[in-house]
Parts: sequence; C-alpha cells; structure tokens
Amino acid sequence: MNRKVICALDTTDLNEALDVVKKLRGHVGGVKVGHSLTLGHGLEVVSRIQDAGIDRVFLDLKFHDIPNTVALAVREAARLQVWMLTVHISGGPAMMTAASEEAHYYGEEVAPLLMGVSVLTSLDQHVLTDHLGVCRSITEQMVELSKLGLQCGLDGVISSPMEVKSIRAAIGHGGIIATPGIRLEGGNNHDQVRVGTATQALADGANYLVIGRPLMSSKDIPATLAQMELVSMHK
Ligand code: C5P
Repeated sequence: MNRKVICALDTTDLNEALDVVKKLRGHVGGVKVGHSLTLGHGLEVVSRIQDAGIDRVFLDLKFHDIPNTVALAVREAARLQVWMLTVHISGGPAMMTAASEEAHYYGEEVAPLLMGVSVLTSLDQHVLTDHLGVCRSITEQMVELSKLGLQCGLDGVISSPMEVKSIRAAIGHGGIIATPGIRLEGGNNHDQVRVGTATQALADGANYLVIGRPLMSSKDIPATLAQMELVSMHK
C-alpha cells in the first residue's frame, strides 16, 4: 500500500474503471477521474468508485472560467464529496479565491483540496514560448503561477517531475504538490514530455504521484508499484 499514489482512471469504460478500482483497493491512496469517465457516465462515477472501495476521488476537470461559474462547479464537487479537484491558475486570482471560498460551502470536513494547474506536463518550452507567447522558462512560469495559486487560497499545485524541486523550494512546506508524468526509468513515455521517476519526484518534494497508463495497463499492481520502488515486495 502506498497512500501517495493516485491512479488516473483514463478510460471511457465505467466497467473497466470499476474493475481497476477493485484491483487497486488496498494498494493506492486514491484515484483520479476526468472528462473521459464523467462525460459518458455523469458525476455518479464518484459514488460508484467510492462504493467499489476507494474513498479518495480526485476530480480532474481543470476548471477554467469566470469566478461565479467556477465557484458553482466547486460547490457541486464539494457536495459530491470529491477529495481533490483541479482549477487552472491562469483563470486568475478572483477565480481561485471564489473557488477556495466555495470549497468550504458544505463544511470543513468535506471541503475538497483545490489543486492549481499551471503548465501541462505534455507541453515543452517551444510550445510555451512560440505558440502560447509565454517568455518565461517553463520552470519560472510554474514557480510564479504556483506561488500565486497558493496566495489565492489553493491547497496545492500540480507539477511535472522536472519542476517539483524548484516549486518546493519556492513555496516551502505549506502547499501540496501532486505530480503526474511518472514513468519507469527507460519506460514508455506515451504523450508525456516532462517525465521522471517516482523516487526522484518524492525526493524532490512531491506529496502525491498521479500515475495513469503504467498502472491501468498493469497485470499485477503490487509488482508495478514495487518496480517503481513505491512498495516493497518483501514485507
Ligand atoms: O497515463 P499518465 O501517467 O501519463 O497519466 C497522467 C495523468 O495526469 C493524466 O490523467 C493527465 O490528464 C494528468 N495530468 C497531467 N499533467 C498535468 C495535469 C494532469 O498529465 N499537468
């Protein structure tokens, strides 16, 4: 069991997702659901997953809209008792402040953790600068947006393995860092560009690791976690 691992259930097939949840139960800390499951099956997927044995559901819909619209979405997520959710930091201070206020609408005990997304792990410097017009380096952009997110009431940020160390140094120990783009040394990177190993991300200051395809395609979850040095095979 490693409670720092969050498995991304990136599938459109609810039955497949629930089968994976049953295999993951007792081995990981939570699961992440996004558009691929919720668009087809509704937000009922949250309670279906909880009923299948994993309480901590991370709703990764990356909210990015005007403050009032995002606040209403966050209130709904809190009602559904999701554990964690994402908003885009580029939605701006007013949007993040409204989201943070609304997260507590149904009380502290069910308030979801709000995580800020800055630069997606699938983007590189060329895209950031030449296509999106951001002159800062990826690391500078992520550090500055992460600091802004926490100042505006977010609980933490999402960071690729490559920027965790710089973000941790800039924000101190107060904020949560969740890290996708985790791969085995020499493993398949799929569409991720800024990848790293689980052990390095944790050593650099990540609190949670978001792992999708390496776990979804695994025939033996404990063995894959052990290969990533996230659990010991010898208890
Ligand atoms: O399959 P893989 O391990 O690449 O999955 C990573 C998960 O983390 C995906 O669900 C992806 O949407 C999500 N994610 C990401 N980069 C971000 C934020 C979320 O890869 N910056």
